[in-house]
Amino acid sequence: MSFLRSELIGTGAYVPDEILTNFDLEKMVDTSDEWIRRRTGMVERRIADSNTASSDLGIQASLKAIEMAGIEATEVDLIVLATVTPDMFFPSTACFVQKGIGATNAAAFDLSAGCSGFPYALTIADQFIKCGEYKTVLVVAAETLSKITDWTDRSTCVLFGDAAGAVILRATNEDRGIISSYLSADGNYSDYELLGIPGGGSRNPSTHETVDKRMHFIKMRGRELFKLGVKAMAEAGLRALETGNLTLDDVDLCIPHQANKRIIDAVGDYIGLPDEKMFINVDKYGNTSSATMAVALDEAVRSGRAGPGNVILIVAFGSGLTWAATAIRL
Ligand code: ACO
Repeated sequence: MSFLRSELIGTGAYVPDEILTNFDLEKMVDTSDEWIRRRTGMVERRIADSNTASSDLGIQASLKAIEMAGIEATEVDLIVLATVTPDMFFPSTACFVQKGIGATNAAAFDLSAGCSGFPYALTIADQFIKCGEYKTVLVVAAETLSKITDWTDRSTCVLFGDAAGAVILRATNEDRGIISSYLSADGNYSDYELLGIPGGGSRNPSTHETVDKRMHFIKMRGRELFKLGVKAMAEAGLRALETGNLTLDDVDLCIPHQANKRIIDAVGDYIGLPDEKMFINVDKYGNTSSATMAVALDEAVRSGRAGPGNVILIVAFGSGLTWAATAIRL
């Protein structure tokens, strides 16, 4: 009996041209290239200019994914866009992308799951495809973390960058595509001081006071998150493998959320995957929240590091807390 699967037929990524190096950061805050490299593995990150919003990056990434897929934008039935840096509260960033790429037949919405947004969005897209509702879905992760970074806070400003990635999923009866997913969340860790932005929403609407108190920037307790992130990502990965009846040997490449190289190394150790199966590009882009995995997936596909038949395991954690994993056979 044939059953519907969500096949990955195109990937795309886009980063702004402007590069911010560790040495540039040394001139902005009390930090050093040596500290940043040793503690995070980051070397440089990309920064969008003042006229560029998340949707602008998402549009470019989506156009590349559409081109690789060899489809027309009008064939896209649904756009699911993950972001923690929407262009504005509303309209949704997905609608800006829909307009920008000319996907005139698509439904479109944003999804907020912190840095776990990409596997969350893939899973939702997969459900719509499997139930037969939609045939072609564009999943986008588009972020401009630079716009919500406190450039006077050395404990966070060295970490973040801007990027977008996109994939096209299409219904297939073949034995490939998304094999399994695992989504989880624990609102007991929703304390915004752990990871969040306190100002600007309905809890603390924007006022002169919220601006003066720098409440519109990312707050984070990095050391606490470090431990939570390793366990959450590793367990999500193992759960997705179990659900998909996959073993560690089946995994050709693991694409973890790129928050910190030390976290990635620890996740590989916890899961039991060798270093060469852990994809790392945090050195080039820093932490771009939900976009890290979408960009990495595109790099893995375009560079040939992952090819037809390979199994890719995406693992993520983010504010909420949320954590998630998706196993895909290319
Ligand atoms: N340059 C130099 N020194 C610094 C810097 C900096 N940029 N930042 C902090 N330090 C200092 C601290 O003040 C501290 O000094 P002290 O020992 O005198 O008090 C020292 O370095 C060690 O600080 P820690 O916070 O303990 O350093 P740690 O090794 O934990 O590294 C880091 C910090 C990189 C933030 C790490 O904890 C981490 O990566 N955490 C996880 C972050 C994460 O994954 N966030 C979730 C995703 S973000 C998102 O979702 C948008």
